[in-house]
Amino acid sequence: MGNPIENIPVDDKSYNALISLLRSKTGLNFEYYNKGFIEKRIKARMIRVHCKTLDDYFHFLSSNNSEIKSFIDGFTINYTFFFRDYDVFETIQDLFIQGMKVKRKDIKSNIRPQPSKLAKFRTKQNAAKNLAKISKNMERPARYYVDIFIFLNQLSYYQKMKKMRSEKNSINIWSCPCATGEEPYSLAMILDNLKSQVPNFQKYRVVASDIAQEAIAKAKVGVYTNDSMKEISDYFEQKYFEKQKTHFGHTNLIDEKIKNKVEFVEEDVTQGHKLPYYYDIIFCRYLLIYFNRKNRHKFLKILESRLVENGILVLGKTETLFDSWGSLKIIDTRNRIYIKSHSKLY
Ligand SMILES: C[S@@+](CC[C@H](N)C(=O)[O-])C[C@H]1O[C@@H](n2cnc3c(N)ncnc32)[C@H](O)[C@@H]1O
Repeated sequence: MGNPIENIPVDDKSYNALISLLRSKTGLNFEYYNKGFIEKRIKARMIRVHCKTLDDYFHFLSSNNSEIKSFIDGFTINYTFFFRDYDVFETIQDLFIQGMKVKRKDIKSNIRPQPSKLAKFRTKQNAAKNLAKISKNMERPARYYVDIFIFLNQLSYYQKMKKMRSEKNSINIWSCPCATGEEPYSLAMILDNLKSQVPNFQKYRVVASDIAQEAIAKAKVGVYTNDSMKEISDYFEQKYFEKQKTHFGHTNLIDEKIKNKVEFVEEDVTQGHKLPYYYDIIFCRYLLIYFNRKNRHKFLKILESRLVENGILVLGKTETLFDSWGSLKIIDTRNRIYIKSHSKLY
């Protein structure tokens, strides 16, 4: 028997015919993605609609218009949650605190989730036994302080550059891809929390884009299940969410003020970005992993062109450009943070 996905035969002729049909019907830029990823998505749909061969699926797709939407929805993987990789968000918060010249101890904020919360979500059984292990893992490794030192040195330069620009300019942040909105809303919460405590805090704009229509629609509604809340700290949960009891169980409704701070755009980012902005920070996490090496570079050019000089690019923790790519240079290896700089860094 084995895995049913493994058992579906793929020959080049049928595969290429299917990809050109899918391209013409969906408009997706398949050449960007890893072949293995595309095959898995096609096979998953084939199993759902009971097609045994690629040719069967070709015919099914040709005669069922509703399958096009199902294919696109299944093609994208919208997995995300608030403050995913919370230490990345802590570092970004440090960036702002450092730039504002306020003391860390004077700012009320706590991004770190309670270890007991992580234990509940991360371990299926015996959460209590694993609590000590999780608390230990949450301690900062020694290397963090080296990274953050280099990073903050770089940032004071970045802040100086920002000051030279017009005061009217806002800090522009782009979350690309944003899936169901947890990532851009996490950023908007951090900024709102700082703005409420720091006089004359700079204006800011958070833009969020994704190819998946359904994910964007869900983001705009702003209602989340507890799965999305698994790594959010009590501080942010209590400040920005209202708990609701519905037919489907407990849900969490995000504050209207935060909802209004994020501008959502539906777009295929491999074809460029629709809005006219240049960004100080781009979060592009867990998208590059789906792209093949050749076109990954084409895509990085789009991101690089949308960053201001000394702007910051944050990748997912499993994604890397090695130490540099074009003008993008690593400043925090642990958190995969790069700075766009045409000058020599250290
Ligand atoms: C795993 S989610 C990442 C969400 C978020 N950045 C995070 O780290 O939690 C990947 C997202 O990439 C989106 N995506 C895939 N291809 C895309 C494309 N060509 N343009 C824009 N978004 C895309 C998917 O729809 C999905 O929502």
